[in-house]
Amino acid sequence: MAKEMKGIILAGGAGTRLYPLTRVTSKQLLPVYNKPMIQYPLETLMRAGIKDILIIVAPDHAGDFLKCLGSGKEYGCHFTYEIQDKPEGIAQAFLIGQDFIDHDNVTLILGDNLYEDDFSEAISTFQSGGRIFAKEVADPQRFGVVEFDANNRAISIEEKPKVPKSNYSVTGLYIYDSTVVDKVKNLKFSNRGELEITDINNLYLQEGQLDVAFVKGKWFDTGTFESMHEAICFARDRHLAKATSER
Ligand code: DAU
Repeated sequence: MAKEMKGIILAGGAGTRLYPLTRVTSKQLLPVYNKPMIQYPLETLMRAGIKDILIIVAPDHAGDFLKCLGSGKEYGCHFTYEIQDKPEGIAQAFLIGQDFIDHDNVTLILGDNLYEDDFSEAISTFQSGGRIFAKEVADPQRFGVVEFDANNRAISIEEKPKVPKSNYSVTGLYIYDSTVVDKVKNLKFSNRGELEITDINNLYLQEGQLDVAFVKGKWFDTGTFESMHEAICFARDRHLAKATSER
């Protein structure tokens, strides 16, 4: 039977880098121009045709996510909600989502990542293994960084390296087959106490099963005030351009 593509939006975490904004609400519910931040990754999944979506949130403002997004019916989708009790790593999403994923493939998107690209083709052509998306950035130390050989093949991925081996950051959208669940079960917590998504990517890489594609359009990780400001300006320009073209 053909495997379905399920979607997960990871929207937990404490958002400490955005204090005091995140004292009374979640980072992913903050406005990015005219919409709550989480609406952007949701639209990225929906644009790629994903309808069955698990939304993972922290306990603190869980009810507000439900109020904000509802059952999914309004979007022609089905939303499921789970709580991540503590921010113990991005890869933990696959343990929390184990039953939801079942034997299907899964696309995970971070709740604070905003993309211009349409991932429909990358998602519809995915069969097995892992597929991630890199983007050239000015500050690779902030991210997972991909090292390429002379033939442009990925050879390693390092999480927030002090001396990055390239300027290519791993962005926050990851496509995996269901073996990701067993891979996470065998992971050890890193020094910062997290199940690292970079460790998962390196496991697929070692198996020769990791496809590193590139983000063509704009990409924002809205984890800092500066990047959030840039994302808001981009969202505003895009919104106004669309409104003008529809006039
Ligand atoms: O944005 C892409 C980067 O995301 C990748 O290049 C890195 O490899 C990856 O580790 C991650 O780095 P960040 O420093 O941006 O991760 P951060 O801890 O900020 O978490 C990203 C989002 O995921 C954030 O919105 C909160 C959410 N999160 C994070 C953790 C660790 C959770 O919901 N639960 C968690 O346990």
